[in-house]
This record gives sequence, C-alpha cells and structure tokens, in this order.
Amino acid sequence: MNILVLNGSPKGERSNTVKITNAFLDGINTTQENNINLVNISQKKIEHCLGCYICWKKTPGICIIDDDMSELIKMYINSDLIIWSFPLYYFGMPSKIKAFLDRLLPTSLPSINIKENQSCGHPGRYDLSHQMHLLISSCGFYSVKGNYDALFKQFEIMFGKKLSKIICPEGELLNVPELSGRINSYLSDVRAAGKEYFQHKSFSEETLHKLDKLFYPPEIFIKLANMSWELDNTEDGDVSDTDRLELFLRQMAALCDSSMFIKDIVFEMHFTDLNKTYQLLLEKETCTVKTEDFLPYTTRIEIPFTLWLQFSEGKTNGSEYEKDSYKVFGDTEILLKLKSFFSN
Ligand SMILES: Cc1cc2nc3c(=O)[nH]c(=O)nc-3n(C[C@H](O)[C@H](O)[C@H](O)COP(=O)(O)O)c2cc1C
Repeated sequence: MNILVLNGSPKGERSNTVKITNAFLDGINTTQENNINLVNISQKKIEHCLGCYICWKKTPGICIIDDDMSELIKMYINSDLIIWSFPLYYFGMPSKIKAFLDRLLPTSLPSINIKENQSCGHPGRYDLSHQMHLLISSCGFYSVKGNYDALFKQFEIMFGKKLSKIICPEGELLNVPELSGRINSYLSDVRAAGKEYFQHKSFSEETLHKLDKLFYPPEIFIKLANMSWELDNTEDGDVSDTDRLELFLRQMAALCDSSMFIKDIVFEMHFTDLNKTYQLLLEKETCTVKTEDFLPYTTRIEIPFTLWLQFSEGKTNGSEYEKDSYKVFGDTEILLKLKSFFSN
C-alpha cells in the first residue's frame, strides 16, 4: 500500500501528533511493509492558492505556481492512504496544511455536481475512488466536543465514508516523560489500531473506545496543564533544574490518589545532587508539596534527582547497583506503596 503522511505540524518532527502517527505506522507495517512517504509540510515550499483557476481553464490539472506542490500532487494521487497528521489550531487546521489543501484544486474538475445530501462538489480529475483518508490530530484541551466540530464537518464533507479518525485531546501530555507509563500504553493501543486498520480499513468500536479514553480526567489534566505554564524559563528558553523539580513534584501531587492512604503520610525527599529537600504531605483529601516549615517525616529518602526521575519514568526499578545510590529512613513500607498512591 502507498501511504502519504502529511505532517502539518509547524513543529515538524518534534510534533506531539507525529508521535501518534509513528505508532500507527509501526502498527500498519506489522503485517506487511508498506511504501510510506512522510512529508513535513512545514519544510515544503507551498505558496497560497491564487484563485486564478488557470489549473481549470488554461492548463487543465496544472497549477501556474512553480513550487513543491507539483511533486506533492503526484504523490497524493498515487497514494492509497492519505494520513493527515496535524494539531488542532483555532478549531481547525494549521495554515500551511490548509494551503496544501487549497492547492489540491488541480486534482478536481471545474464542473459542479450535486452530492447525496443536496450539497455541491466538483468531480475528481483522477479516479481516487480507492483512496482512504485518516485524520490523526492532537489538541491542547481535554474535549473533542465543541473543539473538533468544525474540522470534523469539513473532513466528513470532503472524504465521507472513506474517513477514519484518531483524535488525541490533552496532546501536550505526550511530551511529559514522567507520564510515560500512561502515554506508552496509549501508543501501544494506537499501534494495535494501525494493525487493525491495515486489515479492515476501519477501526472496531472496541478500538475506538480505547483510543477515545482521556489520558487523565479533566480535573487532574487541568491541574497538570496549568502548572506547566507557571514555569519560569531561563533566558535561553531552558527550564531551570529547580523549576523542573518543583513542577515534577506538583505533578506528582496532582496525580496522587488519596483514596489509597489509610493514614496521613509525610514523605520527605532529599535530592542529593541538587542539595534540595521537599516534603509531600499525603492527607485524606489532598496531596501537597512543602518546600519549607517541614513536619516530622514518616519516610525520608535521600536520592539523586536524576535517579528519582528514572524511577518515576519507569526506566529503572532499582538494581543492586542503584541500591547504593539512595538511603531510606523511617517507615520503609511507604516506599513500596508509593507507586500505588500515584497510579493515576
Ligand atoms: C496557534 C495555536 C492554536 C491552537 N488552537 C487550539 C484549539 O483550538 N483547541 C485545542 O484544543 N488546542 C489548540 N492548540 C493546542 C495544540 O493543538 C496542541 O498543543 C497540540 O498537541 C500540538 O500538536 P503538535 O505538537 O503536533 O503541533 C493550539 C495551539 C496553537 C499554537
């Protein structure tokens, strides 16, 4: 199968959405190696359509503008599956992928026909009846409803029953390494969806149900998202170690499932590489981060922050070698239960 992937994120390969698209491509390639062309639209020279209709009148099928679109149109008409991979921008598509879409005009004929639902359209210049379309998109909010309505309508009008969708709300969380457990499980569902799509050219209800599940419930997501905007960047745009550390702890607090505690717990962390101490106060209804006025601890761990991050990202679970790198004081049982407190 010839697959054309249109990466419409201005962030190119750093795109959140492309992470999902790559997982889908891994899945679709499990059964058979497909011929995949991945185009980073942001790096292509694509002028805006001039609306001159020269591609309909003087030079049928050929645009007057000499840029990358002539090559891209060839790829487009020779593809069996078009994957539209882009973030949601202002409830629609980013401007450069819209420019790409407008420039597909030479692939249509000028005559007007009436479609099933009494709306109008132009017939295609080429027989693309076999072509399928998949919209893969991520967005910043947690909701699909009210957010994607306009884009869905547009894509449904254009591609009708040939369209499938993978939509990922809370998309910025794809970037948070500490949440890799939840993110990787989503990406493995996307991989499975890719395999299924290869066989059936659509997704089952069960797959859609899995893919529709939010990473985190809205109230936790909003806390996580709002926290990340509070970060003070250094002059060169990097986040300082202390800010990253404090954000991380506040994220931990937001993800905490307080129904797991049978008693209040003061969990103290001393990060040996940064020489900083923090406490997580795990109480019945809340989990808070303390940076001063410390309380007597239930459990204290002395550990390099780098190693703590690796634990939380699931990159290690404490080898014999690592055991010499940290010390635990007080109720050591709490450390073993910690993962279940943050199972969110
Ligand atoms: C200009 C702009 C407009 C955006 N508009 C929306 C929007 O309407 N709804 C939404 O949920 N997220 C919106 N977002 C957030 C992005 O869709 C979100 O961060 C996405 O995951 C980025 O994906 P990418 O890394 O693939 O570019 C917007 C972001 C930008 C920069």
